[in-house]
Order: sequence, then C-alpha cells, then structure tokens
Amino acid sequence: MPRGIVYEEIDEYIDGLANRGDAALMAVEKQGMDEGWPIVGPAEGSLLHILARSVRAKRVLELGTAIGYSGTWLARALVDGGELTTVEHSADTAAIARRNFEKTGVASKVKILVGNAQTVLRDVKGPFDLVFNDIDKAGYPEVLEPCVERVRVGGLLVTDNVLWRGDVARKSRSAETAAIRTYNERLAKDPRMIAAIVPLRDGVSIASKIHD
Ligand SMILES: C[S@@+](CC[C@H](N)C(=O)[O-])C[C@H]1O[C@@H](n2cnc3c(N)ncnc32)[C@H](O)[C@@H]1O
Repeated sequence: MPRGIVYEEIDEYIDGLANRGDAALMAVEKQGMDEGWPIVGPAEGSLLHILARSVRAKRVLELGTAIGYSGTWLARALVDGGELTTVEHSADTAAIARRNFEKTGVASKVKILVGNAQTVLRDVKGPFDLVFNDIDKAGYPEVLEPCVERVRVGGLLVTDNVLWRGDVARKSRSAETAAIRTYNERLAKDPRMIAAIVPLRDGVSIASKIHD
C-alpha cells in the first residue's frame, strides 16, 4: 500500500539509490532523522542539486532553512562566486543550520536571514536563478507572488510538499491542504510560469519562468 503518495517499496527503492553526498552531509541527514527534523532527504536533495546545476545557479533563495540539509545540497551546486540566501524564522534553528553549513564546508557561500519569510522577503531583491520554498504550508499562498517576482526568466521555482500525502486530491480540507491547493492552482494558471508536479516523496513542484 502507498505510505504517502508512492508505494512504500518504490520509495525505498528510490531512497536506496539516492546519492547521499559525503560524510559531513550524511551526518546532517542522520541528525535530521534522529531528531525528527522534516528535511527533504537524499533523493529530493539530489534533485535540488541537479536543478540548481542545470540553471548554472549563482543566486539561490531558500525559504525554510531548518538544519541546513537542503541548503547544503543547493549551496554545493552553485557556480563559483555563487551565494545561497536562506530564510528561517527560528533563531535557534538558524544557529544549528549555521554550524552545519560550517561542517559541510559551504558556510562562506550561505547567508542566513532570520525572520518570517513573508516579512523578510520584502527586503530581499531578486533576481534569483532558483527559489526553493519549504516553509509552513499555510504560508504558501502569501509567498507565491514574491517568489515568482524574484525568479529570473529561465530560472526555477521549486516547492516541496505540494501533494501533502495526497490530501490535495482528496476531500480533506485542513487549512494546510487548502493553502497548498490554492498555491498549486495559482501557480498552474500563472502565465509567467510553466509548472509540473513530480510525485517524489511528498510531491515536488518544479516551475520554470518563461517571461516576466
Ligand atoms: C520543512 S522545514 C525545512 C527543511 C529544509 N528545507 C531541509 O530539507 O533541510 C521548514 C523550516 O522552515 C521554517 N519555517 C516555517 N515557516 C516559516 C516562515 N514562514 N518563515 C521562515 N521560516 C519558516 C521552520 O522553522 C523549519 O525550520
């Protein structure tokens, strides 16, 4: 039976083949598992890395730093001189991420902004080559327009958890499910973007900006 949106054995197969990075990144993955942080995991981390490399990303924006796991995958994909700006509303969590970015060797390429993404974004200027959105799901609709505005033409907006264990397609109407549905629908109809949902893990939306 499916555990979430994918049959368990398929999830396990994908995870089993996923690139996990080096020992430092695997230690952050282990910390995430041991302490229950909702990190993207190695398969989606690899996907983020591939996407950032494929647009030759120099400026990446992440909303939702947590312990710096996805941030490390993204920072390691930057071209020389590139920078990851990552936003985290918990100062304690940002401090853990800062230590992990040092351990994974990317601290010099990462700027952590502590605060609520909805507010912090007002002072963050684009354009970015890639924006990764992974904040609290109820906040998704509010950050959509600021994210789209800050992606350059040809750049990507990547969003995690867009299938929300499949609830977006069922009758469940929790506030989070409703917020994700609103986000997905607005993104699908946005004439500036072409979006596709990849049913990896909890659903990853990948949207390319085709014009301003
Ligand atoms: C799902 S976790 C991010 C996981 C991370 N992307 C990874 O895979 O390593 C979400 C993080 O975003 C933070 N967060 C949630 N809502 C936020 C908001 N509105 N603004 C800034 N940070 C937020 C949470 O404190 C949490 O650390």
